[in-house]
Amino acid sequence: MRIPEDVRKDIPLTQEVIYFDNTATSLTPIPVVKAMDEYYLKYRANVHRGVHKLSQMATHKYEESRKTVADFIGAKFEEIVFTKNTSESLNLVALGLEWKKGDRIVTTPYEHHSDLLPWQRVARKYGAKLEIIEGDDEGNLDLSDAEKKIKGAKLVAVQHVSNALGVIHEVEEIGKMAKEEGAIFVVDAAQSVGHMEVDVRKIHADFLAFSGHKGPLGPTGIGVLYINEEMFDIFEPPLIGGGTIEDVDLCCYKLTAPPERYEAGTPNIGGAIGLAAGIKYIEKIGLDKIEKQEHELVKRTTEGLTELEIPWYGPRNLKKHAGVVSFNVPPLHPHDVAAILDEHNIMVRSGHHCALPVMKRLGINGTVRASFHVYNSIEEVETFLGVMEELVKSLR
Ligand SMILES: Cc1ncc(COP(=O)(O)O)c(C=O)c1O
Repeated sequence: MRIPEDVRKDIPLTQEVIYFDNTATSLTPIPVVKAMDEYYLKYRANVHRGVHKLSQMATHKYEESRKTVADFIGAKFEEIVFTKNTSESLNLVALGLEWKKGDRIVTTPYEHHSDLLPWQRVARKYGAKLEIIEGDDEGNLDLSDAEKKIKGAKLVAVQHVSNALGVIHEVEEIGKMAKEEGAIFVVDAAQSVGHMEVDVRKIHADFLAFSGHKGPLGPTGIGVLYINEEMFDIFEPPLIGGGTIEDVDLCCYKLTAPPERYEAGTPNIGGAIGLAAGIKYIEKIGLDKIEKQEHELVKRTTEGLTELEIPWYGPRNLKKHAGVVSFNVPPLHPHDVAAILDEHNIMVRSGHHCALPVMKRLGINGTVRASFHVYNSIEEVETFLGVMEELVKSLR
């Protein structure tokens, strides 16, 4: 496959706009839409609930999708639970574990609200203690501080890639520290899966969360919670009911085995099928090619912004910088910059990116964020830099 030309052909919207808002959600390739169309038009039925052939077919495709997800991140079939999105997955972890006063939860200063609020609530409700690993303004974590804080912790929750700063965190090293301490290791992989290799065993994850609609090029409304099988005995399903049981009497119930134990009610069947199609599409391109393309785009973007003296955030070491570039054009408000870019058909996100503690730490009210996927081109970056140059000139 030629990158990005052949991918762009599969994504009609790339011909209409410059889409640099991939951190929020990605564009959808035709094969993903077709896979979902096929479900809705040819075998639309519920799963695990019928002997008729449509239900059999839907069940087969749904479970085949689970296998695709499992293989993609190095997990076992039964360790994959379909959810709504990363936020739901992370909340489920916090709700399904048992907590007591004094339990220590360790996280980072760069987390998305979805990997911070659930732990804050646990701390408030049960008297657990939330501890934050030290780090610098570029988003680099102090690993020796991580080692100190992780000692005796019950749970360590870390994002793989920051959606606000683009920094790639050392999840493998941190996971190892957590394992050595017997702590539960939770990874927010919302911005890494689909953009770079993620192997749950390699990074020692006990739980890992991601959304279908971002890196994996799937639809919205489908997410994944990976649950290491070693957690099955201590992780209670926060939601129970239809589909989660082996037996029920009026007095009581017996839960069924995972993964069904963790999926109450009718799941997002078309979404899971679309997600698997997205993953297959990613595999066809190759994660190495995706990473390489995004790296080129980040390199040119940061180089161009530096030339224009536009401050950008995140690590200067571009090996640690994923395909997300946050910047500001003082004295303009980030929303005004985004609106100007929109006039030129360039879609970026502006605001606090659900990472208010990061913004407060940097003393800013938000950033403009250009975020990439494999279908973005260097030509698009040049167009973007051209608009930025004109904008900067108009301000000086
Ligand atoms: C790092 C990170 N975690 C969690 C989320 C939440 O993802 P979702 O909105 O799909 O639940 C996001 C979304 O941008 C994210 O970037």
